[in-house]
Amino acid sequence: MAEARLKKRVAVFISGSGSNLQALLDAASASEYPAEISLVLSNKADAYGLERANKAGVPTVVISHKDYPTREAFDDAMDAELAKANIEIVCLAGFMRLLSEPFVRKWQGRMLNIHPSLLPDYRGLHTHARALADGAGKAGCTVHFVTPELDGGPIISQAEVPILSGDTGEVLAARVLAQEHKIYPQALADVALGKVTFS
Ligand code: GRF
Repeated sequence: MAEARLKKRVAVFISGSGSNLQALLDAASASEYPAEISLVLSNKADAYGLERANKAGVPTVVISHKDYPTREAFDDAMDAELAKANIEIVCLAGFMRLLSEPFVRKWQGRMLNIHPSLLPDYRGLHTHARALADGAGKAGCTVHFVTPELDGGPIISQAEVPILSGDTGEVLAARVLAQEHKIYPQALADVALGKVTFS
């Protein structure tokens, strides 16, 4: 039981399918994993990831950004949930809202994101379509600390994926996603253990 007390309490923010959430839940089910998924927070009531959390017995909260007049007010509501659940680390996993600077600064060094490109290439949306349109030879994914600069924070880990002739955006996305599911749990473990710190 001593081990259980040492586990970092993690919240995962989602807006959709939550396949990365699933990878984190699966990893965290191992007794030796240094973090536990203690809360799943979605801004969408119909996000499939909420079902994944329910199945894993993890508490969920839905906070609709539409119920708040400003981005800051929405972020304050999320922050209050994090405080209630004694959260120590936040993982963004397909969370499709921009976060306000005060929230990001508060969690800087304790908030991770997964992005489907080899940053600093292809920040923002539609990464795979842009890489294919450019005729790029490789794609990949990145886990990084979140800073106010969109997809610009310090990199924790990356995985490279080849782009093959005939690839569509969907095929490439699936190949990249398989790697996302490997590197995100590992990156979270490294941060939870203090092996990787924000600088
Ligand atoms: C992933 O491609 C992730 O890199 C990006 O959003 C997608 C989320 O997918 N930030 P899922 O909801 O984890 O399946």
